[in-house]
Amino acid sequence: MNDLSALPADFVWGAATAAYQIEGAVDEDGRAPSIWDTFSHTPGKVAGGDTGDVACDHYHRVPEDLELMKSLGLDAYRFSIAWPRVLPQGSGAVNAAGLAFYDRLVDSLLEAGITPNATLYHWDLPQAQQDRGGWPERETAERFAAYAEIVVNALGDRVKDWATLNEPLCSAWIGHLEGTMAPGWTDLSAAVRASYHLHLGHGLAVQAMRAAHSDLQIGIVNNLSPCEPATDRDEDVAAARRADGHTNRWWLDPIHGRGYPQDMVELYGVDLPVKDGDMELIAAPLDWLGLNYYFPQTIVDDPAGPAPHAKMAYLPGLRRTAMDWEVNSDGLEQLLVRLSEEYGARRIFVTENGSAYRDIVGADGQVDDPERAQYLDEHLAACARAVKRGVPLAGYYAWSLLDNFEWAYGYDKRFGLVHVDYATQVRTVKGSGRRYADIIAAHRRRVRRAA
Ligand code: FCB
Repeated sequence: MNDLSALPADFVWGAATAAYQIEGAVDEDGRAPSIWDTFSHTPGKVAGGDTGDVACDHYHRVPEDLELMKSLGLDAYRFSIAWPRVLPQGSGAVNAAGLAFYDRLVDSLLEAGITPNATLYHWDLPQAQQDRGGWPERETAERFAAYAEIVVNALGDRVKDWATLNEPLCSAWIGHLEGTMAPGWTDLSAAVRASYHLHLGHGLAVQAMRAAHSDLQIGIVNNLSPCEPATDRDEDVAAARRADGHTNRWWLDPIHGRGYPQDMVELYGVDLPVKDGDMELIAAPLDWLGLNYYFPQTIVDDPAGPAPHAKMAYLPGLRRTAMDWEVNSDGLEQLLVRLSEEYGARRIFVTENGSAYRDIVGADGQVDDPERAQYLDEHLAACARAVKRGVPLAGYYAWSLLDNFEWAYGYDKRFGLVHVDYATQVRTVKGSGRRYADIIAAHRRRVRRAA
């Protein structure tokens, strides 16, 4: 086992999921469609025509899934709340039955001694709000804050750890520019406006949440990626700088009070709809930063491609997951150090990290997944290295607790520590899940010995 003794005694060991990826029950108890229901039901958008209609049926299987969390020894569970369950039309009447699901989930977690960490938006915008213009419109930011206030009023007495947004980059860039995620647009101007209103929605939500409960620990979750040039050609070096702006700085600078990076504002050439006071709201002080890390990017110039005119080079000979993502844990260490040194982060969580591999269920019913276990080991070792370098890393959430609906890839890509047989909904802890449980138990023994 790797030496993880640098991790602090109170390091939080968690696992993460997201509502649309696991819950199913899409038309139960008053839930209305989200943009992901619409997108996944549009032919050609999701591999295999898969949808989240049933997913892991988690909505009906919370007790069973809690037992799994307990068997892994988790301290904390990161999940998301589905806006269309709570406010089916995006705003207006609260759907008490939808909110009650999360109320029960939170109570069961606390009863099991597992700390809830709730994300308010993991991409499932109510379709009704999309029909009013979605994230490119300011109204969506305002409605998001109103939704946040309702949820925090209902759960904030028991849930103290909150994230506003999960990976706004994906909502804005992949959803509105690349078009391979909901709502599936390919419009740079809409994408830039969406990114702005996501940030504004975050800032307004933070304000509303703090007013509702003064003792919350509020953060935001970004997916970041080191962007290195593939060659030392000037074109590639400049492209890597643009890719870094698009992937990292655009998402970090404004929330740290630095405004939007000027080079990127010029490159996009889209006016940001800033009103007086917005930038201060967007930069509202946070209690923690969430980092979702999967892979680093090696960049080449791509003058004919969409903004930022830079793309990932496919380097042969690298270890890759089933997503074709490079396995490179140094990237995680590098980003953690950057958040701490360049952005002055005082408390960081790795809110997602994990890998997809083609799992095989053995004749004995077991799933042996040494590559995923190795990915886990290597990335936890990177966390420990970062801590040794002074990074205030407070915890790690493995992505994911369960195999689940992997967005446009459907059910084919499995990230779980626990295998899900979608035909029977039988769950089986994989080798990597047992490995994680062992790592957690070893950490606890170390802490007890040192006490
Ligand atoms: C992240 C998402 C998460 C999951 C992983 C693999 O971008 O936040 O929902 O799909 O990737």
